[in-house]
Amino acid sequence: MLRALRATTVANALAIALTCIATSATGQPASVGGAKPSIVNGQGIEAGQFPFVVALVDAETFEREGAFDAQFCAGSLTTPTTIVTAAHCVVDDQTGRQAEASSILVAIAENLMGADIRVVPVSTIAVHPDYDSEMVTSDVAVLTLAEAVTDVPIIMPMRPGDIPDYLSPGAPVFVVGWGNQSLTGSSYPEAIRAGALVVFPDGACGRNEPYKIGSVTFDGFNWDEADPALMVCAAGVTASGKVIDACQGDSGGPLIGGQSGALRLVGLVSWGDDCGTRHPGVYTRIAAMAEFLMAQRAISTLPPTIAPALTVDVLSGGLRVNFAITSDGSLINQLAAAATDPVTGTTASCFAKPRRDHLPPFCTIAGLANAVSYSVSGITANEFGNSPASTPVPAVPIPVPTPGAIRAVSVGAVGQARFQVGASDANGSALVSVRVECRSLSGGAARSGPVVKGVALVTRLAAQRYTCSVVATNAVGAARSNPRLVIGRR
Ligand code: ARG
Repeated sequence: MLRALRATTVANALAIALTCIATSATGQPASVGGAKPSIVNGQGIEAGQFPFVVALVDAETFEREGAFDAQFCAGSLTTPTTIVTAAHCVVDDQTGRQAEASSILVAIAENLMGADIRVVPVSTIAVHPDYDSEMVTSDVAVLTLAEAVTDVPIIMPMRPGDIPDYLSPGAPVFVVGWGNQSLTGSSYPEAIRAGALVVFPDGACGRNEPYKIGSVTFDGFNWDEADPALMVCAAGVTASGKVIDACQGDSGGPLIGGQSGALRLVGLVSWGDDCGTRHPGVYTRIAAMAEFLMAQRAISTLPPTIAPALTVDVLSGGLRVNFAITSDGSLINQLAAAATDPVTGTTASCFAKPRRDHLPPFCTIAGLANAVSYSVSGITANEFGNSPASTPVPAVPIPVPTPGAIRAVSVGAVGQARFQVGASDANGSALVSVRVECRSLSGGAARSGPVVKGVALVTRLAAQRYTCSVVATNAVGAARSNPRLVIGRR
């Protein structure tokens, strides 16, 4: 019924992967799991909270002295056979030489002093071709495991355009590892610890701008020290005003964004100015490393598994399908809907992409007959395949008006927006009213204004996000134009 969305060639699929914008409909990022406030000024974690975090241990030291003494970095399981870590964990700064795969073991254990620590051998190490130990740019490497780890949940690396909210300034993130907890000496924990951090704006990372968290004002780095295109800065502050930061030994470990159930690997512990200072920690920006991670097969290649939920707007001779996406952690690059006439079996479809502005994606199936009952179903897809199809929804096009489109919006004086609107088509039954209606996305009051000579003025808008449409009504009923996002001015 629905055409497969699979790209035809691998090159094509990669191009789509790297240029497509995928967002989740899950809205605001929330705190990760239920972690309490290591790491410097960090907190312990609940067993199993971040199961994909692994310790990198020196194979020789491990044999002689065990995992606690042998641990030197952390990493994340991103597929059953790949660990993503920092390049500086596996490249000698002085000589530029890469470690032998046989010299490193991956330890899967929250407590490094625990009995019977599970270790997995590494078969190959790949370092990002652009890794520069001087500037610490592209500080990422992939360890391919000699045996697949199939019983530990993975974390999905973030990719360009994937849920941009996870890295918006102030977004909550977690850093996890077995690194030093002391600002003055060394105190390494046996059990893994976490730090609750927030993401810094780019300007407070590589453009020297200050950034305040709670009572603490942090300084950014200079443009020639940190490059926000390739790095993410983050730090946290405890309730009593102490700085939370990663430290030596945490390197390569994850910066984790998003909500529990849809966690993303957004960064890797890379470098900092000592630990817990008035400078943020600097993390490798994972979304900027996607091409390398794809080439190393460190990003899972599974299709989405959850069908979208659909609502349908009735149009004259068409149907507009609105998608609500539930993310299972896999990427969504495309959506499709199909309307089938159960009597004739004919099908028409439409396609949409996830939207950057987080409004529900939609598409319009045109060329349908009025007064025919269609069955509408939808799927989500990425370059690896399609989700199952949603439960069919019945819908009947009827000759409601065809509202003119919003051609331009200007948000002028406080609380006002002016819309230029194309002509509406009555579709055989005289127009009763044509208005622009703005619905608040945060539960505030809806506002509207009549369209007069192609212009509508909507007033009393709050400083909120609104979705605005032209609503044209005739004797048959009302129809809405495609929505536009409008943000009220303060
Ligand atoms: N390079 C350090 C390591 O090898 C990590 C430093 C992170 N520093 C910071 N202040 N966040 O473990």
